[in-house]
Amino acid sequence: MAKICLCLTAKTLARNLEVLDKYRKHIDMVELRVDCLEPNERFLIRSFPEQAGLPVILTIRREIDGGHFESGEAARINLMARGLAYANADRRRNFAYLDIEEDLNVPSLEEAARTFGTRIIRSYHNLKDTETDIAAKLRSMRRSADDIVKVAIMANSTWDVLKLLRAGKECTGQEKILVAMGYYGLCSRILAEQFGSFLSYACALSEPDFQPAAPGQIDAQKLEQQYRFRSMSSATKIYGITGYPLTVTHSPYFFNTIFGLEEIDAVYIPFPADSINACMELIEALKVEGLSVTVPYKEAVVPFLSNQTMEVRNIGACNTLCSDRRGWQGVNTDAGGFSDSLLAFTGRPHLKRQRVTVIGAGGSARAVAHELHRMGAKALILNRTLYKARDLAAPYRFAWGGLDNQGIEKMNKYRDIIIQTTSVGMEGSTMGDPVALYSFSGREEVMDLIYKPEMTAFLKRAAEAGCRIQNGFDMLIRQACYQYIRFTGKEFPEHLLPRFRSSTGGFPQQAATK
Ligand code: ATR
Repeated sequence: MAKICLCLTAKTLARNLEVLDKYRKHIDMVELRVDCLEPNERFLIRSFPEQAGLPVILTIRREIDGGHFESGEAARINLMARGLAYANADRRRNFAYLDIEEDLNVPSLEEAARTFGTRIIRSYHNLKDTETDIAAKLRSMRRSADDIVKVAIMANSTWDVLKLLRAGKECTGQEKILVAMGYYGLCSRILAEQFGSFLSYACALSEPDFQPAAPGQIDAQKLEQQYRFRSMSSATKIYGITGYPLTVTHSPYFFNTIFGLEEIDAVYIPFPADSINACMELIEALKVEGLSVTVPYKEAVVPFLSNQTMEVRNIGACNTLCSDRRGWQGVNTDAGGFSDSLLAFTGRPHLKRQRVTVIGAGGSARAVAHELHRMGAKALILNRTLYKARDLAAPYRFAWGGLDNQGIEKMNKYRDIIIQTTSVGMEGSTMGDPVALYSFSGREEVMDLIYKPEMTAFLKRAAEAGCRIQNGFDMLIRQACYQYIRFTGKEFPEHLLPRFRSSTGGFPQQAATK
């Protein structure tokens, strides 16, 4: 089973021990980053393994490999020797591992290490790209049968992550550590076991002086508790969410919490992706069972489906993929989530005789328009790009227009309910109000599909005019419940829902996913 290794990056050994103790129950081993220690502390490292009480990697990282050691190779080798000196017959008092870069060649040091049971981690770092032939690198780096080879590359795209995964699969049977650093590489850290990696490096995010030692590192406690890293095995079912930039997603917290409470052997992972093609290859290589799809891939994912529900066909957008024998089955749970949420909000059984404005004509608006039509509403679609509003409105015989004076004027005839579906106002996106020119009468029922922030400028203005308002949180939860049923084939455990609703209509604070 892959191990969780906490990177200790404090300036003093005492502080490292303090944080280690705080995280002890969540981790299997630690890496002492000697290069992060103050110079006078570096001479005291020899006693650290005994004080730590769990296996320790001795690492003195150079600046060219992303570390802080500036004093030259002779001084570095000297420090490594100091760490290994006075080896103890009780191996627990020695460093369990010594990280030596592949281009460092000091046979006497390696011999000294091996004599007293310190294993060599032969490491290669590429902080820029994945130009290297990773499989060839993994094979050529090993000098002794007992070596663990480590390749850490900067993943600049989803293709890079796939490249690392494939290289790992080519080298099965070889003890190795594989890390795809950076934003795209998150899955390599959570799914270390599936990548064939001996360990996953993690950080202590709760400590202000313990920031990630490498880009993309996850908090060790989160890795162990939210992702249940230690209980993952080859039988664990993998689910996830893809999108770009995917900076705001509560779905991993939602699904992993329920999987944990319901004792389902499954994990749900963010797969931020710059290419839907690469993402689909990656999730197939990882044997992912189900995928939530968000902005901007809800339409782009449709060609990958081997079969799809009538809703997906009609809407032309898909937010849920389930693996079956034939390939990917496409479902749209936004539709059901939206209509359930809107009917609950308005307290109506249907929308006959209701006149509704939809702002936006993207993937989410497609599901909204489909449901409004199904429930009997008459609607107006307004969008920045005019032809998209026209194309979305046409099959339903809805009215359409732009986000300009003319379009806003039309809203006066479609103002029972107003639904905002664009990304304007969403955290990490364009701020503002997409219909700033519109004056609310105060009688409209207003819904914004955005849930972070809880109150957009658009909703705030509506509320100030006296309108009833609702953000997209309720819809998010409802569509996720439908996804859960699709993914697991089980009924949704309704009694767990209150856990996910805070008094402000969002996730409880501790739920926020970094
Ligand atoms: P989603 O799946 O969330 O609907 P999408 O398919 O990318 O995402 O659609 C985004 C929607 O937000 C579109 O209606 C888009 O308008 P365009 O079709 O003109 O691109 C709208 N949108 C995004 N940024 C916008 C902005 N700055 N002003 C107005 N509308 C914007």
